[in-house]
Amino acid sequence: MRKGTSMALVDPHSYADDTQPVTKHLRLHLAVDFERKRIDGRAVLELAAPAGGPMDLDTKGITISAVTASGGGEVLFDLGPEDPILGRRLRLKLPTGTTEVLLRYHTSPDAIGLQWLAPEQTEGKRHPFLFSQCQAIHARTMVPCQDTARFRVTYHAEVTVPAPLSAVMSAGPSGVIEGKGTRTFLFDMPQPIPTYLLALAVGELESRDLSPRARVWAEPATVEKAAWEFAGVEEMIVKAEGLFGPYDWDRYDMLVLPPSFPYGGMENPRMTFLTPTLLAGDRSLVDVVAHELAHSWTGNLVTNATSEHFWLNEGFTVWAERRILEAIHGEEAATLGWAIGEKALAESIARFGADSPLTKLRTHLEGIDPDDAFSSVPYEKGARLVVLLERTVGRAAWDEFLADYMKRFRFQSITTEEFLAFLEEKLPGMAAKANADAWLHEPGLPANAPVFRSEKAEALAALAAGWEKGVRPTSEQVASWTASETLLYLQKLPRRLPAEECAALDEAFGLTGKGNYELLVEWLTIAAGSDYEPAFGKIREVLVRVGRMKYLRPLYGALAATERTRALAREIFAAASPTYHGLSRRVVAGLLEKFPA
Ligand code: BES
Ligand code: ZN
Repeated sequence: MRKGTSMALVDPHSYADDTQPVTKHLRLHLAVDFERKRIDGRAVLELAAPAGGPMDLDTKGITISAVTASGGGEVLFDLGPEDPILGRRLRLKLPTGTTEVLLRYHTSPDAIGLQWLAPEQTEGKRHPFLFSQCQAIHARTMVPCQDTARFRVTYHAEVTVPAPLSAVMSAGPSGVIEGKGTRTFLFDMPQPIPTYLLALAVGELESRDLSPRARVWAEPATVEKAAWEFAGVEEMIVKAEGLFGPYDWDRYDMLVLPPSFPYGGMENPRMTFLTPTLLAGDRSLVDVVAHELAHSWTGNLVTNATSEHFWLNEGFTVWAERRILEAIHGEEAATLGWAIGEKALAESIARFGADSPLTKLRTHLEGIDPDDAFSSVPYEKGARLVVLLERTVGRAAWDEFLADYMKRFRFQSITTEEFLAFLEEKLPGMAAKANADAWLHEPGLPANAPVFRSEKAEALAALAAGWEKGVRPTSEQVASWTASETLLYLQKLPRRLPAEECAALDEAFGLTGKGNYELLVEWLTIAAGSDYEPAFGKIREVLVRVGRMKYLRPLYGALAATERTRALAREIFAAASPTYHGLSRRVVAGLLEKFPA
């Protein structure tokens, strides 16, 4: 791997080289082959300027069959050795004056950026499904490319799928060509994006319009439910525009994926990908949509240059998400969001260790897989730094700064250091006043962390603290709480309860029957930690159906931590893991390994 020597900046997770030609536009022809679980691709890389000499691309599990240059001449290439994190460097030797280069290739059936689902893993059970998840460094398993957030590309794609399936991408739809047993979907993405925002999904899909510029896609069996759940998205877009400026991506469409999707949401531009666990039936989990929508500004417009600056994406976006919620539901609701986030932050810091460098905001990740560095730290610690800055300068001045920041860096990728330099230019002395250096470069949570005061949150915490002394909420209280209030209360309860108390808790809140997965999983985590057998059936059902890593971690963790249920955790994993996304499988396997057999 290259070292960050004299060069101003390199991405430790890419072979792309600043001194070489840069891709400006991609033209992709992708044929989706469900039988062989592979994409047969033709990728044309259009260069920013005519160039020659070496050009290094990122690939992982990609088989190249031919490379040709603009004129049709063959291009010599050389595939380097496999690095377990980066994959293989593909070095092209371009003849002088090359304006574009064509690569013919196919992907590997176990490409980590792609999940191929059997019909049984879908809601409809009749057709297979494919989806991509390219962040942080998995685009290279789908397309050979300069897979670094420092570079941006526009793209055109033609995706051929078996009829009657449909394809969607992180791009605008430009038409469909019906073939013999196939359908070819055309896409254009006119705004330049980092390659981690390339996205593709293929399946039996239907859509419902939610507003002139917003639509939701899902399998036919879920599309009505999804349309109801996300009906408020246009209001969110309007509020977000009021806060962060015009929505620059034309449409805001969403895709509800099958339950193995490993994240809650992914901000693929023009087509946010969402887990079906958001379909609570009461619109109580739309904060995830607010989050992914907010990435349209923080992340997709102004992008982290590399994973070492990931907090610029997620910290700003959590902050923005809560500003949107505040604008819609008021200050109290936003404060509850901050209070709920505290637990995830504390758990992440505890998981790495309070002095771990992975709890710094500005990280150094050479030799470290970004998926292994992933935690709530860049999210919740990052967002707290943004609030600290906001409070230090005052909201009006901060909002003005933010507008300048978006204007200055739109469609660019920046580092923490560039952010700081701009902050210093616009608001001199503020970073020092907030002690931003400690936040960025020291582990753990600094002493000047902002405090979020809310009478509601304090009352809930006090009530939960009384649990062991027999204090219980009244049924009127239980009935009056919002999902967030209930979640905060559950979070504050002891992690281990006697069986009668588990039963009483479940009964009082109807927890096992909850459609809200945040509540359901918080409860099942307590139940697993309490070795509460009546809940095992539901735990198994959730672990077999859902692949969202946020839920797998605590549930398997709680089961494995108790000796009596450790074998159960392993047995469920053995049964469920073939249906998991590769990322989820890796996370759970790593977690279970830490416990003795
Ligand atoms: N961009 C992330 C998901 C991600 C991060 C994928 C890093 C791969 C690598 C997305 O915006 C996200 O943060 N999702 C959260 C939503 C939550 C914070 C509201 C999730 O999946 O839980
Ligand atoms: Zn995010």
